[in-house]
Amino acid sequence: MRHLMSPLDFTVEELDQLLDLAQDIEANPKKYAHACDGKKLATLFYEPSTRTRLSHEAAMLNLGGSVLGFSSADSSSASKGESVSDTIRTVSCYADICAMRHPKEGAPMVACQHSSIPVINAGDGGHQHPTQTLTDLLTIRNVKGRLNNLTIGLCGDLKFGRTVHSLINALVRYENIRFILISPEELRLPEYIRHDVLDRNNIEYKEEVRLEDAMPELDILYMTRVQKERFFNEEDYVRMKDFYILDKEKMKLAPKDMYVLHPLPRVNEISVDVDDDPRAAYFRQVQYGVYVRMALILTLLDIHVD
Ligand code: CP
Repeated sequence: MRHLMSPLDFTVEELDQLLDLAQDIEANPKKYAHACDGKKLATLFYEPSTRTRLSHEAAMLNLGGSVLGFSSADSSSASKGESVSDTIRTVSCYADICAMRHPKEGAPMVACQHSSIPVINAGDGGHQHPTQTLTDLLTIRNVKGRLNNLTIGLCGDLKFGRTVHSLINALVRYENIRFILISPEELRLPEYIRHDVLDRNNIEYKEEVRLEDAMPELDILYMTRVQKERFFNEEDYVRMKDFYILDKEKMKLAPKDMYVLHPLPRVNEISVDVDDDPRAAYFRQVQYGVYVRMALILTLLDIHVD
């Protein structure tokens, strides 16, 4: 039985197969419409979500399966003190596969150690968000036609941003990847990722504070939200929250084939006047999230469609 805790749980070859499967699903949705007939997905969300929970559910419904679950800790027996390990042992009796989001780093890992069904990490604290990474990889591959030879700008909250941490871990395995890390001093990428992931893999990167200075060099700009929920005090959040605002004027500095991604939700960091720019790929990214999660469910359940 396989789980997905981190993008590194798949080899590059397996990732490529998964992305190929997602593309086949996009092209031939009817072929997969009954692939999961009789199967159930449980979504165990201890933290708010729109895209991750609903796209997992849409993915299972598109495959012919059914869904059950909870969307907040308050509406589950976690509010009475039930542990993650007891919850997953219970849910293993009801469902064939589950997706778990939790504010504590490592909670989905605890779940998979006590689970008899595949567990998908749907985001754990500031740690990892591997299904967002699968979504990001599929989007980059579709808009740029490749996952190597890319300069990727990561902008915003690089300290707490789990989507950024997962994406870096996944991309360093492709050839000739270069990063420009764009953040205020207080939200720099953690030292352990710069050292253990970037330096150890000899990945070229530089750090910038001004988004304008990085724009002309980029193939992909990955914007992120400054996450209120990860700050210990409101004052620091208020000081940081509007540090970066991508608008039409700044987009003029970017190459014509530089695409903008964002895991969403956005607050102010991308002005709505950018949405009509053909390089704004963040809503296409949402759609790709469904195809890639369909591919993931099939892969973890070991279901093959001819
Ligand atoms: N990208 C993402 O994780 O969005 P949600 O928080 O809405 O699931």
